[in-house]
Amino acid sequence: MNILVTGGAGYIGSHTCVQLLEKGMELVVVDNLSNSSQESLKRVEEITGRKVIFHKIDLLERDWLEALFRDYEFDAVIHFAGLKAVGESVKIPLHYYRNNVSGTINLCETMAKYDVKTIVFSSSATVYGEPEKVPITEDFPTAAYNPYGRTKLFIEEILKDLYTSDNKWNVVLLRYFNPVGAHESGKIGEDPKGIPNNLMPFISQVAVGRRKELVVFGNDYPTPDGTGVRDYIHVVDLAAGHVKALEKLIGKSGVHIYNLGTGKGYSVLDMVKAFEKASGVKINYRIAARRPGDIAECYADPGKAFRELNWKTERGIEKMCADTWRWQSRNPNGYE
Ligand code: NAD
Ligand code: WQD
Repeated sequence: MNILVTGGAGYIGSHTCVQLLEKGMELVVVDNLSNSSQESLKRVEEITGRKVIFHKIDLLERDWLEALFRDYEFDAVIHFAGLKAVGESVKIPLHYYRNNVSGTINLCETMAKYDVKTIVFSSSATVYGEPEKVPITEDFPTAAYNPYGRTKLFIEEILKDLYTSDNKWNVVLLRYFNPVGAHESGKIGEDPKGIPNNLMPFISQVAVGRRKELVVFGNDYPTPDGTGVRDYIHVVDLAAGHVKALEKLIGKSGVHIYNLGTGKGYSVLDMVKAFEKASGVKINYRIAARRPGDIAECYADPGKAFRELNWKTERGIEKMCADTWRWQSRNPNGYE
């Protein structure tokens, strides 16, 4: 199979590239490197012993996209490219809508023109808004409370409309829960620019001495220890979900929606403790007020992906923390 991977230099994209290459697939990566470094792809080459074809292209540049589709014949597109910082999206919403929504429209128009109609899209558990109960199944109502979440929801709707307009489209919407961890080699991992928004990179930067302390956002939630509960999923398991989706769904037109999570919820303090154990480093933290927009609890029912894709997660929080630590301690400043 010949796959176009958009956003393939990023965190989840680079881990997925490793597995696609290990499966013997051919791939072309496009990325504008706005939130990543080409070094990640060099590391992917080191891990797999295979060459990665890379083009620095922004999805907003239609002509370059066209040129790419003229030069290569793709069987499918895995579409990771997008901006993902919730807080930033509130400050610069138009930038998020243009980048994520317009970028996706450009991509789909080009795909349609060159008759490439299989797309695997990186959606998010954020499309469930504030779920009424947990675990969350794919048929729960959707909602979004910030511009980032709305880009995910709008793109899901656009892709569904595309299928309605032309039943040859094969649309796979993968709703990720909370991706963490790193490749076992310690060569690739999450390298957020600036101050991390997400819990795990923050903890690991405290551990490595780049940040003074973790601020725990609220300990008065209706959860066992009062801190927020999430479904953390190892990025290598998540990447495997993409490979399974391609293998099982290629040639099966339709709209296919899957939760990619473990089905287990862990609190902020559970993650701190697990990280301390895996790293042997004490994590300084203090409790502060809740972060606006946060929900108490969120975890997946991943049963549909197991039944239909034969996919389930294999790595628990000990491994998530151990692999994050290996990556962070060997690369204290990320890819720099
Ligand atoms: P990332 O920022 O590491 O990767 C995204 C990549 O897309 C980056 O390399 C960036 O440079 C590139 N990009 C952004 N806009 C682009 C454009 N216009 N043209 C070309 N390249 C562009 O993020 P990630 O964590 O790997 O996330 C990948 C996808 O998964 C994103 O769509 C994100 O919204 C989604 N997602 C992530 C999470 C998470 O917590 N990490 C959770 C759910 C969904
Ligand atoms: C996890 C828990 C925080 C940081 C976000 C996006 C979501 C998806 C995944 C893309 C919460 C607490 C965090 C910190 C803390 N991304 N926390 N101190 O909010 O579940 O989801 O990333 O689609 O759309 O909203 O993840 O890692 O930010 O937070 O106490 O410094 O850790 O309150 O309970 P979240 P997160």
